[in-house]
Amino acid sequence: MKLFTVGPVACYPQVLEEMGRQMFSHRSKDYIDLHKDLTFLLKEFLETESEIFFFPSSGTGFMEASVRNCVERKMLICVNGSFGERYVEVAKANGKEVVVLETELGEPIMPDVLDDYLKRNPDVEAVAVTHNETSVGLINPLEKIASVVKSHGKLLFVDAVSSMGGVDIKVDKWGIDVCFTSSQKCFGIPPGLAVASVSAEALKKSANMRNKGWYFDFILYKKYNERFSTPTTPPIPQMLGLRRILMIIRDEWGGKYKYFELYRERNRIIREGVEKIGLTLFPRKGFESPTVSCINAPKGMSGDEVYEAMRARGFELAHGYGKIKDKTFRIGNMGYIEFKDIYEMLKNLEEVVKSKI
Ligand SMILES: Cc1ncc(COP(=O)(O)O)c(C=O)c1O
Repeated sequence: MKLFTVGPVACYPQVLEEMGRQMFSHRSKDYIDLHKDLTFLLKEFLETESEIFFFPSSGTGFMEASVRNCVERKMLICVNGSFGERYVEVAKANGKEVVVLETELGEPIMPDVLDDYLKRNPDVEAVAVTHNETSVGLINPLEKIASVVKSHGKLLFVDAVSSMGGVDIKVDKWGIDVCFTSSQKCFGIPPGLAVASVSAEALKKSANMRNKGWYFDFILYKKYNERFSTPTTPPIPQMLGLRRILMIIRDEWGGKYKYFELYRERNRIIREGVEKIGLTLFPRKGFESPTVSCINAPKGMSGDEVYEAMRARGFELAHGYGKIKDKTFRIGNMGYIEFKDIYEMLKNLEEVVKSKI
């Protein structure tokens, strides 16, 4: 099966090979070296001096941690799809008051609208935004959003689960306080590891926070980070895989900008290919995601039917998600994908679509 999923995605062969190594203790020198290397590589990749934390969870662990560590009472959450909705659920489940800025589906978060919301809600402590809304295949203008959030002096949490690794994020320059992802997306690693940068401001807030729990306490993580360790057993194989891929990107593939170019190129071929078949993309033009294309189902077919027909031909795409589940299907371009497979997939998609006309 050729994977064009939106996570877990196909893993790079070098990653799988690295993950097959014999285990070592997370209190050994081998682990300290791994933690140290990975911290350095991620700081370089994200252009940040923030702390880097490794959670033995999926990305949502950091959603919960950002809320518990850094919000005492009230926050603003930008919603333009299912993962923004999840942030709201997580914040409410942790007893926080939430102001929701919600767009119509397929529309981006506009910085001027956010500015207006922040003027009208000066008492929020933080703003959360989904950088790349995987459910609708849309990327939000993060740099501009960050600039608005910082002009109001608020903490900024970024769900970069389907963007980190596929598109540039300048954590310090843009002023992001918590920026997180999961291993099973753009870095092409199996699920089980979440990573994030956490700023000094976010740590300051966490230091005085009550009832934040223990398992995802940023201050506890910071204490262990000082000796390149973690409070509990980390997912060492995923960390080994991540170190390997970050080193390959840096030393063999020409650096992160070349890697982002690869993403743009794969995405361009998919997008132009589906448009040539006569299909249209769901999100507003100019805000299409560079890592996942959300495509309107052709006339006479549901998104699920396209998915099933493609699966029968050996291509695993992704179902539509959330409120537009039936009307769309998605094609991811994250992780290990070869160009020849993209062309083969598009040829099959054309046959599937034409068979219904
Ligand atoms: C944008 C976004 N946020 C959050 C999540 C949840 O990530 P996880 O399943 O790693 O917790 C996903 C998963 O697809 C996602 O795409």
